Amino acid sequence: MIEQLQQLRKTVREQLGKLNKLDEVNALRVNALGRKGEITRLLRGLKDLEAEERIHAGKAANLIKEELEQNFEQQITNIKKRLLEEKIKAETIDVTLPGFPPPKGSKHPLSQISEEICDIFMGFGFKVAEGPEIELDYYNFEALNFPADHPTRDMQDSFYIDEKHLLRTHTSPVQVRVMEKMAPELPVKIIVPGRVYRKDDDATHSPMFHQIEGLLIDSHITFANLKGVLMMFAYQIFNKNVKVRYRPSFFPFTEPSAEMDISCVNCEGKGCRVCSDTGWLEILGAGMVHPQVLKAGGYDPEKVTGFAFGMGIERIAMLKYGINDLRLFFDNDRRFLQQF
Ligand code: PHE
Repeated sequence: MIEQLQQLRKTVREQLGKLNKLDEVNALRVNALGRKGEITRLLRGLKDLEAEERIHAGKAANLIKEELEQNFEQQITNIKKRLLEEKIKAETIDVTLPGFPPPKGSKHPLSQISEEICDIFMGFGFKVAEGPEIELDYYNFEALNFPADHPTRDMQDSFYIDEKHLLRTHTSPVQVRVMEKMAPELPVKIIVPGRVYRKDDDATHSPMFHQIEGLLIDSHITFANLKGVLMMFAYQIFNKNVKVRYRPSFFPFTEPSAEMDISCVNCEGKGCRVCSDTGWLEILGAGMVHPQVLKAGGYDPEKVTGFAFGMGIERIAMLKYGINDLRLFFDNDRRFLQQF
């Protein structure tokens, strides 16, 4: 009996040593030590033994049982410890790994063009000036020779805030604001980028858009100066040998007034969809500063002359990059913006 018990002890310990799963260990435990297990089965033979031997075998069986219990506990502890270590290892974060770099942003295409235009004019000696977007009717219209109730105001559909205030419809009001501050100092030589607002909304018009205004006042300014400066500008911004032409036009605050066209940047003047088969693209309005405007700004129209011009930044950007829908600038779609 004792031999059989020793043998059982040996095989159970051998098998146990090879197991590394908890459920297998538990199964072996039930098999060896359980109520219907091997030891119980062996001990059933006790009753057939001599009294002396029976005591002996009983003691040995108890010792072996106890020892095996301990072996099982030890093995279970080992397995649990190993599982925990594996889990910790799997969940460990390597803090030395580099993180994900945040995507790099870039300047909005309209800001890029606006800065590019300002840079060109700064190269000609113009200084950047700015004015408010909520503007007085006086500066937006009155001082620019748009009398109240005059039909010329229909040119620009406006957002009024109250009787006296509106969202400026162009950057021209900054002309008079700057003149008032500077008069009688000469020259007035400014470039004015900014947001403007009109009741317009389609593929080529947005209720909010951007303009750049230019103003040069001095003692001997003529239309030739206007042509020279704007021609040099057109060459620089479009990087090509574009042709330039002027058509007579009307603005209440310039006299004479003109519109400047450039030869189509898409077809180089042959005629295409972009230029509606005319070969020309209108890019800005300009003219000699009206005497009334000089007066409103505090300058004497008998002594000084000047020219002014204004252009839409969106339009320049659309022509330069071949963009056909203005609304793309304001959708905030990264697939579009990332291209600049
Ligand atoms: N302010 C005019 C417009 O928005 C453009 C312009 C500016 C024309 C300066 C002449 C001189 O249409």
